[in-house]
Amino acid sequence: MIELPSEVTELVCQLRDSLGSICILTGAGISAESGVPTFRDAQTGLWAKYSPEELATPEAFLRDSKLVWDWYSWRRDLVSKAEPNAGHEALAKLEAMWSGEFLLVTQNVDGLHARAGSREIVEVHGSIARTRCHSCRTEAESWDERDDAAPLCHACDGLLRPDVVWFGESLPDAAIQRAFTTAECADLVMSIGTSALVYPIAALPQRALQAGAKVIEINPSVTPLSSAADYSLRASAGAVLPQLLSALS
Ligand code: OAD
Repeated sequence: MIELPSEVTELVCQLRDSLGSICILTGAGISAESGVPTFRDAQTGLWAKYSPEELATPEAFLRDSKLVWDWYSWRRDLVSKAEPNAGHEALAKLEAMWSGEFLLVTQNVDGLHARAGSREIVEVHGSIARTRCHSCRTEAESWDERDDAAPLCHACDGLLRPDVVWFGESLPDAAIQRAFTTAECADLVMSIGTSALVYPIAALPQRALQAGAKVIEINPSVTPLSSAADYSLRASAGAVLPQLLSALS
């Protein structure tokens, strides 16, 4: 188990006492300990088994909507059976004890932060729990499965899809704006469980650094952010975050 550097706990304690602001950025790694596979880890990552071009682009969906629909149905089922882990829970508790500004920006679509009790969450890549029409964007609560294609929208007969952001699609404007504005004004940004490879969100900790924030990274692997971060902790989120929380309590 990693020994949390005393400078890290002192920094977070000092910010808590001075009502400092925190922006947390999470990626698939924080849900790994809940059994939800990451995207890029060599053995277990989803993109090691499936090609993003086949499954996570609008072109792929229009080419074979059934394949994409079924893959997301499988993931939705997997995520609905997963439980938040110690890392998600520690972040929810950190938010509850924090009197300054606190925002959690997540690239994850699995909803586990909300289920753990986090409140101020920006889901920049959408949510797998929501289904919407690919054409008119109307959210769907129910649908009839079809054997050869994704289900149809009751409003316009367009194809239904998960309300997530695919490669080549724009991120929701309001979410991105809130995430970057908060990060650029934050005293501390923590980048947790993300490979820091997918833009524009990968730029968020970098922009915060340029604006004068401290940046702590938590990731068992080195990422493009590691050398720039003030502290880069080579450990799992489920091990480090509860330790940080107990140091604050
Ligand atoms: P990645 O799969 O790219 O990266 C996951 C990161 O989590 C890796 O750097 C791992 O080292 C790290 N990791 C693994 N286990 C961990 C643990 N227990 N604790 C902490 N870190 C751990 O996932 P993201 O960075 O989230 O986008 O990927 C970004 C985006 O790329 C995703 O949101 C998704 C994907 O394509 C869309 O679907 C639009």
